[in-house]
Amino acid sequence: MAQYDVVIIGGGPAGYNAAIRAGQLGLRVAVVELSQTLGGTCLNVGCMPSKALLHASEMYDAAKTEFATLGIDVSPKLNLPQMMKQKAESVGALTKGIEFLFKKNKVDWVKGAGKLAGPGKVEVTAADGAVQTLEAANVVIATGSEPAGLPGVTVDQKRIVDSTGALSLSEVPKSLIVIGAGIIGLELGSVWRRLGAEVTVVEFLDRITPGMDAETAKAFQRSLTKQGMIFKLGSKVTGATADKKGVSLTVEPVAGGAAETLKADYVLLAIGRRPFTDNLGLDSVGITPDKRGFIDTDHWRTSAPGVWAIGDVTHGPMLAHKAEEEAVACIETIAGKAGHVSYGIIPSVVYTSPEVAWVGRTEEELKEQGVAYKSGKFPFSANSRAKINHETEGFVKVLADATTDEVLGVHMIGPQVGEMIGEYCVAMEFKAASEDVARTCHPHPTRSEALRQAAMGVEGWTMQA
Ligand code: FAD
Ligand code: NAI
Repeated sequence: MAQYDVVIIGGGPAGYNAAIRAGQLGLRVAVVELSQTLGGTCLNVGCMPSKALLHASEMYDAAKTEFATLGIDVSPKLNLPQMMKQKAESVGALTKGIEFLFKKNKVDWVKGAGKLAGPGKVEVTAADGAVQTLEAANVVIATGSEPAGLPGVTVDQKRIVDSTGALSLSEVPKSLIVIGAGIIGLELGSVWRRLGAEVTVVEFLDRITPGMDAETAKAFQRSLTKQGMIFKLGSKVTGATADKKGVSLTVEPVAGGAAETLKADYVLLAIGRRPFTDNLGLDSVGITPDKRGFIDTDHWRTSAPGVWAIGDVTHGPMLAHKAEEEAVACIETIAGKAGHVSYGIIPSVVYTSPEVAWVGRTEEELKEQGVAYKSGKFPFSANSRAKINHETEGFVKVLADATTDEVLGVHMIGPQVGEMIGEYCVAMEFKAASEDVARTCHPHPTRSEALRQAAMGVEGWTMQA
């Protein structure tokens, strides 16, 4: 029986980062992965292919709608097979990269479905049915998540697709209905709208992107509406029928009232994801998931001795960088070091155009918690680099403690703000006051000056607006 210090079930961002860190720390480590490639949801059917299509479709859209302003006259023609091919090639290179890192860090990749088989044992069933058992002092569950279903709406990956199907459509839909105005719905809805689809988003709540600062979400919805996305808020889908030509959806107002039928070429179901623990043998070590299916942990330890859980399968935001943080902290704890995750400083980014990025608490959360705060806001319309680039939509908003001036939350919408939120993550990690950022020299002319100007705004001395 092969013996390890750590066996990790799942080779996504949680699993592969844990494995690499374990290898670096000299632990004997194996990753059990049932899929043919490493990288999990993120690399294969999540973060990376979606960003490949977001980038390509943004370029296409810019060529059609923005280049002429810059004095570049072009008539772009979509080559969807090539767009999909470059996506697949990039994804292939990334998953191969993890294989390389496994070799470099002496991580064994055991191919097959892993299952807990009592304390310290993981049974692996390979694709050909061969079974082997691995012995480990520590087992880390990193099995991730899968799309949540909706009764009455059967995903067939032909006409009714989930995010995986929506990343590989073979044609541009004339019409696409997205169920759920969350991050997946708006990112992938943006891709297909830019490529020519009429996109309607049906959302249960009376707002988009729950969890996002409300003022920012309103600005975001305005922007997407201006781009042509249609929103039906406060609406629930009660059924869907698909045939070869398209889909009919029954939609009812949440507040009550008459149902209506919406028709579209394709439907994307994107109403959230649920933890994946099917056939994992949790009962063999006495773990019972909570009622939503998540595995409860205390500093990544489950209720079973020697069994740990990280990433989407446990609580917290379902984000690759959260999974990565937990992976490192969990392995460092196993190795006797002090693992730590700053759960209050996990950034979020929506990679649409404009992008939305935030970290820390929203205004609504601060009000709910009775925290007195000051805010500073700076529009990109007053930022010289944004102006010169004709990208003036959006703003940066900084929320700071009214007494101590500590930065408590930052919310931005605008051009590539996802690349800028890291500055505030570092500031918050160091418990910076807004004045620390306000008095830090930023390069001119850059959009990052808006970060500083918003911080200056907390004390009311914004200089450029
Ligand atoms: P996963 O990546 O889901 O990996 C789990 C792995 O475990 C899988 O490879 C699975 O095959 C394997 N597995 C499961 N059960 C077993 C078993 N019994 N035996 C062996 N192997 C098993 N997050 C971001 O931070 N940024 C983004 O831009 C972003 N974009 C996204 C876009 C889309 C369309 C989607 C769907 C998700 C996106 N996410 C994004 C979320 C991100 O993909 C997840 O948060 C991340 O992948 C979670 O990592 P994980 O390792 O916990 O799980
Ligand atoms: P989500 O939780 O972001 O949004 C789901 C939306 O669907 C919500 O607005 C919810 O109110 C709505 N909804 C729920 N039930 C509904 C119903 N019956 N009818 C209509 N609307 C309904 O989930 P999503 O978009 O599926 O994404 C899943 C996860 O993947 C996210 O939580 C996120 O963590 C991750 N992700 C992250 C990305 C990023 O970081 N850029 C990109 C894509 C996904």
